Amino acid sequence: MLRREVVRLRAALSHTDRNTVIAKSRAMRQVLDTARRAAATNVTVLLTGETGTGKSVLAQYIHDCSQRCKEPFLQINCAALPAALAESELFGVRKGAYTDAREDREGVFVAAGNGTLFLDEIAELSLEAQAKLLRALDAGMVRPVGSDKEIPFRARLLTATNRQLEPLLKEGRIRPDLYYRIHVLRIEMPALRERREDIPPLVDAFLEKAGQRHGRRMAGVSASAMRLLMRHSWPGNVRELLNVVERAVAMAEHDVILPEDLAFNESRENSPDFEQAISADSSLEAVERAYIRRVLEAHGGNKAAAAKVLGITRKTLYRKLEGS
Ligand SMILES: Nc1ncnc2c1ncn2[C@@H]1O[C@H](COP(=O)(O)OP(=O)(O)O)[C@@H](O)[C@H]1O
Ligand SMILES: [Mg+2]
Repeated sequence: MLRREVVRLRAALSHTDRNTVIAKSRAMRQVLDTARRAAATNVTVLLTGETGTGKSVLAQYIHDCSQRCKEPFLQINCAALPAALAESELFGVRKGAYTDAREDREGVFVAAGNGTLFLDEIAELSLEAQAKLLRALDAGMVRPVGSDKEIPFRARLLTATNRQLEPLLKEGRIRPDLYYRIHVLRIEMPALRERREDIPPLVDAFLEKAGQRHGRRMAGVSASAMRLLMRHSWPGNVRELLNVVERAVAMAEHDVILPEDLAFNESRENSPDFEQAISADSSLEAVERAYIRRVLEAHGGNKAAAAKVLGITRKTLYRKLEGS
């Protein structure tokens, strides 16, 4: 009996180990706390937050912490779901409902069984699909396309979106009744720039992971490279950090990541000034200045790193910026 307990405990530990959600900052520890409490219930959870903040990771975590953890975890991205297919993917389809339907097919609601169904990018569902989803949630039953029988489902529902739902609600792009139905408990994932303490442990974990993939053992990140990582604005959040580390591991000459190994994604959204500055009637000088500012921004304001990327001296960089 005792022996059995110990073995189970070990298995559980190595399981959570594999899907570690890194959370050092207070904000993220609170998120995990709420997620664990939500996992103990059956309430529908809405995960919101910018892209790359870890909404999908958290959905899996809620499932893993719940009593349903041994049951299926099914995820469907509503943005990748053509309106015409949404209904059959969600609720299933009866043989002969349309020419392609040669046999009965289960939808994800039923396929998820006693497990968890995660509807990602929920705001992208068409209004029609939203209405049908709402009906299913209210009834606890789904009706496959072309069938006149309703089937009960038992799966627990999690949803996520990177959109601000309230404006969509005002514009009539989200049905208010569905909004209230999925909004029982909302967990807002903080942007990475609002929890920079998570950056070092995330970098460590990603170094380890990328190191394994590239068959090299990375010792770490130099102090100046870490300063850049800490200062960057991370518009793509944890996903962007993962990509930056991944690339750095692939490119680094040594087993320590240096500033020149870091290439930050340049986000258009982040520098609308740049888009404006390169309109057809801008002077070369204006474009140059805008470009320098953009590179500077991408390097967290570090002038030495920006000058290096631009292939000019730091003095030249100062001079060119002062011209503005
Ligand atoms: N707290 C975290 N700990 C470890 N990895 C994370 C964490 N948050 C995000 N990631 C990783 O970052 C990437 C993006 O996360 P994801 O959950 O897909 O974001 P979202 O669904 O919000 O766009 C994934 O590769 C994920 O594994
Ligand atoms: Mg996601």
